Amino acid sequence: MENLISLVNKLQRACTALGDHGEASSLPTLWDSLPSIAVVGGQSSGKSSVLESIVGKDFLPRGSGIVTRRPLVLQLHKIDQSKEYAEFLHLPSKKFNDFVAVRKEISDETDRETGQTKQISSVPIHLSIYSPNVVNLTLVDLPGLTKVAVDGQSESIVQDIEDMLRAYIQKPNCIILAISPANQDLATSDAIKMSREVDPTGERTIGVLTKIDLMDKGTDAVDILEGKSYRLKFPWVGVVNRSQQDINKRVDMTSARRKEREYFSNSREYKHLTSRMGSEYLAKMLSKHLEGVIKSRIPGIQSLISKTVADLEAELTHLGKPISSDAGGKLLVIMDICRAFDQIYKEHLDGMRSGGEK
Ligand code: GDP
Ligand code: NA
Ligand code: MG
Repeated sequence: MENLISLVNKLQRACTALGDHGEASSLPTLWDSLPSIAVVGGQSSGKSSVLESIVGKDFLPRGSGIVTRRPLVLQLHKIDQSKEYAEFLHLPSKKFNDFVAVRKEISDETDRETGQTKQISSVPIHLSIYSPNVVNLTLVDLPGLTKVAVDGQSESIVQDIEDMLRAYIQKPNCIILAISPANQDLATSDAIKMSREVDPTGERTIGVLTKIDLMDKGTDAVDILEGKSYRLKFPWVGVVNRSQQDINKRVDMTSARRKEREYFSNSREYKHLTSRMGSEYLAKMLSKHLEGVIKSRIPGIQSLISKTVADLEAELTHLGKPISSDAGGKLLVIMDICRAFDQIYKEHLDGMRSGGEK
């Protein structure tokens, strides 16, 4: 299965890279049919912090106010070699080894589209991270829902953000990571409100409770985390991200994760839940969940892939030989990945026929 997730990941990347060259009509459909995970929640609920912890790297701009102003499509690729690096789609020839520079590039690229304002843009930034320490996942970081426009923002911003989020999370193959801060009433959670709207049965919503460390003294989140006060189909996951003070003091990811583990295991209230709390657990759970979703969607993805291969072949014939154009080359890459998917899928089926679990 690891292979299939990684192929879906590659396929997603290849479809994206094709960008404006996407002449083949079935490519957008193929892209939409591939599962991904999107993060929704109110502004400053901790969305970017959660994503960073899942990846296990510091690379996202975070902070108070509207920091995330464009969608960030983040693809994690697990590789064997130990040297990790990142690549932006808008800078294809540049390999980033320094994740501080990655964060700066996200900010700069955001400003390039919106200016140094508080405006938002729905044009996504595409970032790939290659590392031996990640699980294969495609994650989308999104601007936070807000209630009122602030200075420098247009009046329509509240609606604009809602529309942008809805465009991602209404796709049936989108897993919704609904982020709610524990120091606010769950009944007022934007994440819950919005995810319920597109996924009323909670089939594809995973609730994440952040800021557990910031709850009022004498209150705790046990009822929520145990599924007693607000039941979702999947159990809630509680996390403790770095505080703004931690960020200012440059507390690194390793110590942050250790502190998070200690927070749960040393607490009287949460001790019994420790094994299914925290960012590391969340990352593993998500990967497993995504695997399940891909598995269940394989037949659908498979038939779309066959159609895409057929379309691409027609496209290539139409482009003529020898294929010299950029688009032709990229179509070939997609076709190769589709064929590989096809192959693995057949092996998977053979495995099931011979009774073995794969
Ligand atoms: P986003 O706007 O939803 O992406 O939220 P960010 O990840 O940028 O976080 C907003 C602020 O809340 C930052 O200052 C974080 O340090 C802080 N924060 C996020 N999660 C937690 C948490 O679990 N505990 C504490 N103490 N602070 C957090
Ligand atoms: Na923020
Ligand atoms: Mg953010």
